[in-house]
Amino acid sequence: MFVGAKGGVGKTTSAMLTAAALQAGGANVCVLDTDPQGSAAAWADHVEQNAVPLKFPVIPSGLNFSKQIPPDSEWVILDTPPGNPDIIRAALKWADLAVLPTRPGALDLIQLIPVLDESERSSTPAAVLLVQTRAGVKETDEIKEILADRQVMVIETQIPLRARTSRLAMAHPGARDLLASGYQDIANELKEAFQ
Ligand SMILES: Nc1ncnc2c1ncn2[C@@H]1O[C@H](COP(=O)(O)OP(=O)(O)OP(=O)(O)O)[C@@H](O)[C@H]1O
Ligand SMILES: [Mg+2]
Repeated sequence: MFVGAKGGVGKTTSAMLTAAALQAGGANVCVLDTDPQGSAAAWADHVEQNAVPLKFPVIPSGLNFSKQIPPDSEWVILDTPPGNPDIIRAALKWADLAVLPTRPGALDLIQLIPVLDESERSSTPAAVLLVQTRAGVKETDEIKEILADRQVMVIETQIPLRARTSRLAMAHPGARDLLASGYQDIANELKEAFQ
């Protein structure tokens, strides 16, 4: 699941492109869109209207997650809204892993604290996914060190800041897009972690 208190960091992008990468590997995937804004569902609708539909369902979902899942799903990816403690709490209780997309900035770290606290309360492992990173920026390494000092798990793969990744929103991502964006690597890491 992709969760975070902060808005506009890349939760929906991460959820959709990770789902696409897992599906491209042959898995049965679904995305539950728990965001009342419905961005993930809008993405799927848009693609369906313009061309071939996405190869995984994107299901608008309330708090009753488990009832919405197609029975043959191997991966259920949850996209959560920003700043909605009730949905975030319910999602954390339900998920096997919380992935927290985070930009490498000090203010972004502060926003992680309530979500990390909540994941601890619900005993759901949480891992920070550094997104919109730029090569050669020292701050990213400093942030990694701070997180390591606090014993916060950080996903090895980072998602670079990339205009092309932004343009994948509302589109049908191809294999090359998934590789270049970094989300193919995220899918591979998840597969390894849950083997
Ligand atoms: N790696 C990236 N490089 C550049 N732009 C990106 C990247 N990832 C996401 N974006 C852009 O950042 C914006 C926010 O992304 P997204 O909607 O996925 O965030 P979100 O956390 O789901 O937002 P919200 O909190 O509103 O649900 C979008 O315009 C998206 O295209
Ligand atoms: Mg979103």
